Amino acid sequence: MHVLVAGGAGFIGSHTVVQLKNAGHDVTIVDDFDNSKATAVARVEALTDSHIPLHVFDLCDPDKTEALFAAERFDAVIHFAGHKAVGESVQEPLKYYKNNLDSTFSLLRAMATHGVHRLVFSSSATVYGDESPQPSQETYRPLQSSNPYGWTKVMNEQIIGDVARADGFKVALLRYFNPVGAHASGTIGEDPQGIPNNLMPFISQVAVGRRDKLTVFGDDYDTADGTCERDYIHVEDLAAGHLAALEHIDEMVEPVRAFNLGTGVPTSVLGMIKAFETATGVPIPYEVGPRRAGDLPVTFADPSRARDELGWQTTKSIEDMCADTWRWQSANPQGYPG
Ligand code: WQD
Repeated sequence: MHVLVAGGAGFIGSHTVVQLKNAGHDVTIVDDFDNSKATAVARVEALTDSHIPLHVFDLCDPDKTEALFAAERFDAVIHFAGHKAVGESVQEPLKYYKNNLDSTFSLLRAMATHGVHRLVFSSSATVYGDESPQPSQETYRPLQSSNPYGWTKVMNEQIIGDVARADGFKVALLRYFNPVGAHASGTIGEDPQGIPNNLMPFISQVAVGRRDKLTVFGDDYDTADGTCERDYIHVEDLAAGHLAALEHIDEMVEPVRAFNLGTGVPTSVLGMIKAFETATGVPIPYEVGPRRAGDLPVTFADPSRARDELGWQTTKSIEDMCADTWRWQSANPQGYPG
């Protein structure tokens, strides 16, 4: 297939592009480098020994999006593009609603106009909100979120589903749990701008000496060691989930289908610190601080639907996630150059 990867220079997008190329697909990337760098694309080209056509523009521009679809024939779209910082979305909700919805509108309109009917969308476990029983299952309703970023995922799922049903699209909505890790080469990985919000990039920046210590956000939760538990998933397993979705999209049991992408096994914050220290031999100094507003004690996936319907399963351990993150971070202490 010829696949348009929107947001293909980002963390999950870049790893997915490598796997698409290795599986023999043609890939075109569109990215505005708002939160990513051209170096990531160059490194994906080096890893796949190929040239990858790249269009640098903001998908919120419907005319540029339309022109791209008029010039190229795509068989499918994988839509990763969007803002993703939870805290920033609370401070600047309009920025999130405008960007994360407008880009989807442009894409859907161009897809409908040009008869491109396969879409894989980056959704998030955040759509299960605060009340879902654990592990989360795709059938849970009502979808909701605790922040504007998360609501853009809920709204995008609704909008994409409505358009898909009206225009005969096939759509896989992939609900990611907590993506971590990096490509085994150590040449591509997660490169957050500023102070990391997420646990794994913070740990790896402490390890590489960019931060003094980690603050553990609360150790008085009702969990085995008192810290929150999350379903961390290796980005390579996550990328493989996109390939599996694409390969099964024409035979899905319904035209719009949601799939959890997680391991089904939660790990605590202290468990992750220990695993990182064991996998890398690098000590992670930490202190326990207050709880972070909005954190749930435990979230994890029931990944059985993706296993049964996509033939997809995770293969990487927590130790793999830590070792691969460290290979990337230690080789690229400041992230991508440029
Ligand atoms: C994991 C655990 C923290 C940082 C977020 C978004 C979610 C999704 C993924 C996209 C929690 C603890 C963290 C630190 C810590 N994004 N922690 N010290 O909150 O599960 O999910 O990212 O869809 O929408 O909410 O991930 O990595 O931020 O936190 O103790 O410096 O690590 O309290 O228990 P989270 P996270």
